[in-house]
Amino acid sequence: MTIPTQATGTSAGGPGPEAGETLLRVTGLKKHFPVTKGVLKRQTGAVKAVDGIDFDVRAGETLGVVGESGCGKSTMGRLITRLLEPTAGTVEFQGTDITHLGAGGMRPLRRDVQMIFQDPYSSLNPRHTVGAIVSAPFKLQNVKPEGGVKQAVQRLLETVGLNPEHYNRYPHEFSGGQRQRIGIARALALNPKLVVADEPVSALDVSIQAQVVNLLDDLQDELGLTYVIIAHDLSVIRHVSDRIAVMYLGKIVELTDRQSLYDTPMHPYTRALLSAVPVPDPRRKSGEGRERILLRGDVPSPLNPPPGCRFHTRCWKATEECATTEPPLVPLRPGHQVACHHPENT
Ligand SMILES: Nc1ncnc2c1ncn2[C@@H]1O[C@H](COP(=O)(O)OP(=O)(O)O)[C@@H](O)[C@H]1O
Ligand code: SF4
Ligand SMILES: [Mg+2]
Repeated sequence: MTIPTQATGTSAGGPGPEAGETLLRVTGLKKHFPVTKGVLKRQTGAVKAVDGIDFDVRAGETLGVVGESGCGKSTMGRLITRLLEPTAGTVEFQGTDITHLGAGGMRPLRRDVQMIFQDPYSSLNPRHTVGAIVSAPFKLQNVKPEGGVKQAVQRLLETVGLNPEHYNRYPHEFSGGQRQRIGIARALALNPKLVVADEPVSALDVSIQAQVVNLLDDLQDELGLTYVIIAHDLSVIRHVSDRIAVMYLGKIVELTDRQSLYDTPMHPYTRALLSAVPVPDPRRKSGEGRERILLRGDVPSPLNPPPGCRFHTRCWKATEECATTEPPLVPLRPGHQVACHHPENT
């Protein structure tokens, strides 16, 4: 496609990771937002946005994270990029505990870990030119690319499929999809190792969502990137994810490779999510071999999540055990972790 952007030299945190090596490890991660009342700000409760999750991200893979709105996906993304301070648990990056690193300690890591945000309208400063936006990471990190910043930025614009001549234009002169490409160029400026993309195409026209997802996919091969891609349903990320974690109310309920998740989902919630995904193969009628499951009721509040299995208030298989005992996330098959007392497809 285009030339890789190697202008910035080696990245900050030492040598690049070997494919398959654990790049990120998350253990017991929690984020509780305190809820306060009155002038004294007495704490009356906490929103348990992320409530104890464990997972690894392997170098070179794409980990998809799906779940309904409010289940804690963005909070998880901000925790692993250290934009938020965790309430409990640890985050390790290439074997180093980064959970409580301060601004100084995080500085080299800010190069290695980048985030792409959902809304390409609000995440780009409307008063800055594209050149200023994409060159900001170089200035912030005091990186002087060979050939100068302007050349590096123009090369980045080309890499993401934008016209490098549009260096001096402003965000409002671009379409939504092009703006998200600007956000991607900015995220890639410093040759990151890990890119966390939080619903990168949710705000875009359905007709261009696939283009942007495919761009991310192409860039991954070209630049050896590792992705965590967050989405609220499976339709957008099903093709690009190597493994998928399904979240429900601050927890991971199922985590496995894409094929197993689609062919033999084991958590009832995953089955419900899958039954809502349109089947793109025209020879297969929508939902064939997969009855459509409509979930009753709303997602309960993370302020006061249900006891036992958090899904029991909406699960058609729920028993008494489900209402009292929380099922741990355990491997029921090699590489297939599920948190359920009565799993499907066993
Ligand atoms: N800064 C915050 N303060 C208080 N509550 C928050 C904050 N950010 C998120 N939440 C709450 O945490 C829960 C999870 O939010 P979020 O991580 O944005 O979910 P998702 O991205 O899956 O939609 C929601 O109930 C949300 O209202
Ligand atoms: S543990 Fe029980 S309530 Fe929870 S998903 Fe499994 S069957 Fe349903
Ligand atoms: Mg979100």
